[in-house]
Amino acid sequence: MLALPLRSAGLVLQHAHSVLEPGNVQAARIQDHLEYFLVVSAIVFALVMGAAIWAAVRRRPQTEDTRSARREAAAGRAVIGALGATVLVLFGTLVYDLRLGRALTHVPPRDALEVTVTGRQWWWEVVYEDPVPANRLTSANELHLPVGQRVMLRLQSADVIHSLWIPALGVKKDLIPGHFNAVWVEATRPGVFRGQCAEFCGLQHARMGLYVVAHERPAFKRWLQQQRAPAPAPRDSLAHRGRAVFEGGACALCHAVRGTAAAGRVGPDLTHVASRLSLAAGTLPNTRGHLAGWILEPQATKPGVIMPPSALHARDLQALLAWLETLR
Ligand code: CUA
Repeated sequence: MLALPLRSAGLVLQHAHSVLEPGNVQAARIQDHLEYFLVVSAIVFALVMGAAIWAAVRRRPQTEDTRSARREAAAGRAVIGALGATVLVLFGTLVYDLRLGRALTHVPPRDALEVTVTGRQWWWEVVYEDPVPANRLTSANELHLPVGQRVMLRLQSADVIHSLWIPALGVKKDLIPGHFNAVWVEATRPGVFRGQCAEFCGLQHARMGLYVVAHERPAFKRWLQQQRAPAPAPRDSLAHRGRAVFEGGACALCHAVRGTAAAGRVGPDLTHVASRLSLAAGTLPNTRGHLAGWILEPQATKPGVIMPPSALHARDLQALLAWLETLR
């Protein structure tokens, strides 16, 4: 996990990778289930241990046959009673379990926001669907959610099998090539959570992270509006030069920045790269220095990644960084 304190829209990363701090409706239900199991198991454990200790330490007086026969009968009744209680507890647990399973897979209403998450080696493409094609928003390595609204995640893969795992949201589902999986989430509180690929998918599987940012609804709407906007025009000559370096160099072959000539679809869309919490799918803090290092020698950070090193002149690199930093 990144060592920097991460902030997005005033939200701070806290307990970001914990299943014990649920931030989603389903995660809260799973948490209840876990607590129920813990309590029931603890009671059963205490009773069994108590009985075992009692049996071990009680005195066994030498008595005549009739009393020991009566004891025998009482012990038999106790065993039958315990058996009945066991069946009852297990049956109750089974019913609870089935009901939970139904609740978790319940189909969301039609007005649910739809987000398509595509696993790629080794990053996440995140597309916010919209009935109006012009409003469809393509982003990467961050999933933004409105609190209190159901969001349908459509999961697919562009290459090998990945798995989207967001512990705080109780989400863990495979992304399979040629197949759509679906899972819905409803964030219950604002916050920043962490997701991680949970299916070995190649050399950089461990560096395939994702940040989930849950906003209150008005803040989410503002975020969506802002992200739909194309990149702002460069405001000074340095940024102008930076954009020219991007458009004229290798960057534009793989990356898209809306509002410029760059329309590559191989790597992440960088239209608002400066607004993101991390670089290289949760691998590096999004700072100028890390961005420079990543551009010059991505193989040093993520060996095997398809992004090639760039031999940029120092002044071109400075211009490129200056321009990229305006893409908020
Ligand atoms: Cu993607 Cu592991």
